[in-house]
Amino acid sequence: MNDFDYLGEKTVYVDAACQSLRPKPVVEALTRYYFEHNSCGERVKYPWGEKTDALVEGTRKKVLKLLKLKAKDYFVAFTLNTTYGINLLLNEIKPELVKKVVTSEIEHNSPFLATMALAKRLGVPRVVLERLDTGALDYREGDFQKAVVVVNCASNFDGRQMKNIAQVVKQVHKEGGIIIIDAAQAMAHYHELLEKTEADAICFSAHKMYAPSLGVIVARRDLVPKLNQTFIGGGMVDDVTMDGYELSALGNKEHVHTIFEPGLQAWGEIVALGEAIDWLGARTKADKQRLEDCTRELDEFLRGKEKVKMVGWEANPTMSFYVEGLDSHLLGAALGKEGIMARTGYFCAHFYLDKVCKYSPLMRFSLSYATRESDIERIKEVMSRI
Ligand SMILES: Cc1ncc(COP(=O)(O)O)c(C=O)c1O
Repeated sequence: MNDFDYLGEKTVYVDAACQSLRPKPVVEALTRYYFEHNSCGERVKYPWGEKTDALVEGTRKKVLKLLKLKAKDYFVAFTLNTTYGINLLLNEIKPELVKKVVTSEIEHNSPFLATMALAKRLGVPRVVLERLDTGALDYREGDFQKAVVVVNCASNFDGRQMKNIAQVVKQVHKEGGIIIIDAAQAMAHYHELLEKTEADAICFSAHKMYAPSLGVIVARRDLVPKLNQTFIGGGMVDDVTMDGYELSALGNKEHVHTIFEPGLQAWGEIVALGEAIDWLGARTKADKQRLEDCTRELDEFLRGKEKVKMVGWEANPTMSFYVEGLDSHLLGAALGKEGIMARTGYFCAHFYLDKVCKYSPLMRFSLSYATRESDIERIKEVMSRI
């Protein structure tokens, strides 16, 4: 069964790095929530609520299982998106723990700007490290002394991955720092990169991994004492007096996630993320091979054109390029008219693509398990014509 058969034959969606298309079972899980057990999670005692609770708890467990992390060390909380998760953490880390802020040059604006704001607010230096072409973070001994480090483990313009993530995490901890991984681009196709890494927190967006719009923070339990609480309200307290309260997260380890979940959550989306994780886990060798083949085919086609200049050096489902003498925005609009939906611009990585590499605006194709061989043929045919 094709879980994306709602797509028209000539509709080519290659913007998965922004948000993936949602497979039908995921959408069905969301509608099941609305039609069959629409209820608030973790508060209500009637049967619909019990069903929601079980499924929400299931999603938290599935996230940890996917990353091979243990519930005794980590917990899972839900937010709006990656950007919100990173900002929330940076705003809550106790200022006295931060002597420096470190990020890298290829970051999405989400960590790039949030680290800038943190350094300004605390009056501490901010260091922007380089990334090798392979994606590895280029660091030296001492770079992470008492630093808060925020780096991605996969890029959103050419998919390069931080393959030295395990060493980076170890080094940050050795130097007394805190590391937050931006895993927005890693969860759909490279979550193995994160398995068992001991990062203090991992932030990602469910909407980039075949699930509905939702943010996720996976955090170490021992990070909690290093945080102040900025957002507080419903669903977070065990007791309230005239001018005081007891946060459940601090007193009950089963409730620790509430520290990042003020108020009512996106219960349906959380339930559907659980379905998306199951769906991802059910991808067959043939599905993975098709994505690999489509990637190679399109990469070879683009690299084979004299005027096409690729950003990355390696074939990756997320590929950015420009065509000499052709405005990418015009190209994007022309492709759009032919039903090919792809992105143009700097993809929120302005600093690296615009200021470091000095590219003019780029074109990006980002493929996924929804990509069909016929999509690649169509892109090749239309691009050749243009
Ligand atoms: C690497 C990376 N980090 C962060 C983000 C921000 O994600 P969101 O807009 O879901 O917060 C994106 C979005 O494309 C991304 O690709």
